[in-house]
Amino acid sequence: LGYTEPYRPQYHFSPKENWMNDPSGLLYHDGTYHLFFQYNPGGIQWGNMSWGHATSSDLIHWDERPVALLARGYPDTVTEMYFTGSAVADVNNTSGFGVDGKVPLVAMYTSMYPVAQDLPSGKHVRAEQQSQSIAYSLDEGETWTTYDAENPVIHNPPSPYEDEFINFRDPFVFWHDDTQKWISVTVVAAIHKILLFSSDNLKEWSFISEFGPYNAVGGVWECANLFQMPIKGDPSTKKWVLVLGLNPGGPPGTVGSGTQYFIGDFDGTTFKADPDNIYPDNKSANWMDFGPDFYAAASYNGLPDGEVIQIAWMNNWQYGGLIPTSPWRSAMSVPRHLSLKTVNEKVTLLQQPQQSWRTVADRNPSKHSWKSISEGATSLDSPGKAFKIDLSFADHDSDDSLASTFAIAVRASSDFKQETLIGYNFTSKEVFVDRQHSGDVSFDKTFASLYHAPLSASADKRINLQVFVDWSSVEVLGGQGEVSLTAQIFPEESATQAQLVSTDGATQDVRLQITGMSSSH
Ligand code: FRU
Repeated sequence: LGYTEPYRPQYHFSPKENWMNDPSGLLYHDGTYHLFFQYNPGGIQWGNMSWGHATSSDLIHWDERPVALLARGYPDTVTEMYFTGSAVADVNNTSGFGVDGKVPLVAMYTSMYPVAQDLPSGKHVRAEQQSQSIAYSLDEGETWTTYDAENPVIHNPPSPYEDEFINFRDPFVFWHDDTQKWISVTVVAAIHKILLFSSDNLKEWSFISEFGPYNAVGGVWECANLFQMPIKGDPSTKKWVLVLGLNPGGPPGTVGSGTQYFIGDFDGTTFKADPDNIYPDNKSANWMDFGPDFYAAASYNGLPDGEVIQIAWMNNWQYGGLIPTSPWRSAMSVPRHLSLKTVNEKVTLLQQPQQSWRTVADRNPSKHSWKSISEGATSLDSPGKAFKIDLSFADHDSDDSLASTFAIAVRASSDFKQETLIGYNFTSKEVFVDRQHSGDVSFDKTFASLYHAPLSASADKRINLQVFVDWSSVEVLGGQGEVSLTAQIFPEESATQAQLVSTDGATQDVRLQITGMSSSH
């Protein structure tokens, strides 16, 4: 397989074939990055949920491995699906799953039981029940053994949430060094709560605390992650970050799913968001991405202390099953390196691309600069279909002679009737992605839209944008990475043109670098 079908991502992970959704178990172990993901081995629609598996030594060149956890009963009657979860290396063999000194990799996932049944563990589950289970691998994640003797290890949601047993899912496990315990973060999706559990051995779990509902509470809460990071420039202060998905209920101007975060503290029992991270009347939220296609973000376990890398599903439940790709559906975001920094007096989550994209980048980027770009279009050489843009220009206040917006059009047809615009609105002080005329937008009526994110200029009064363009996506990181906008696009194969567009006046002191990206396959 050449990975050359129309819309096939060239340097983002996508499965060779079939449906994919959430990253479900991101683990770095022994020099290998594991990416497990929600996968349907039998088609390009959601179903038969299993854990697909891919490995990489650099997070950009991926090797797709055999399915790690195949829906029980597949391809006949499926009696258990493996929903989203996480994975850890149990280096101290607290679980006892390790033999002959081998470190067991342990996955914790949601068992979704389509039908009521009595399990080998003697536990009874009801139709459509969701419970948390574990499995282990002694061969670096190639094959897995489910812990049938006791699964599910978290059978029912604790009191007073017993009624929520069909919406209790997505365990994110990590080792909490200070208390020497495993912590599992789960959601009771429909009531917008996070429930935390702790364990000594990954097998027996105690309910320890809850969080929520706060801020964005549309739809359901899903896929929570909790991790700790130092604040840049203030390394003695470490904060905890809770990231979670909403579906539907994403950022203003989007339809469908989205991702929010909270910064706060975690003492081994309770996560408490900082007071300035809780907005009155659920009127606002910290959005991790202002675009439509960034969901179920998950962070790597097994990285050095304080280092956080996340990958998200680059799709949206609003139209995920309708995007015009075949024989696969969905890709993952570019892996993002996260950090915390005080920006405009507030501790803020920053995202930067994990640096391995450079391994597929051209050595000779094209560089341009202009003292001033006048109103209208300025043509550029065709950058092709996969490239990275670094675009920087002077900010200005509203002024009759200066632009109201400045943008780069990419993946454009030669007449520019088809194009995706990525730019800045100097009046509203917002970065935007406009995919209204981006190509095939026919499969969902909400797809042809414009998305925007607030961004103030840097200290030297500039607007800095980094953009990753692939055969069917654009990812924009603004400023130091304090805003992110991720959107899929489905342009014609021949749409390879680009130009700069300054509206209503000039844009000053423009610097542009375009770096071609080759395939990682
Ligand atoms: C989020 C989600 C999870 C669930 C999984 C099922 O995208 O709905 O909550 O575990 O997908 O595939």
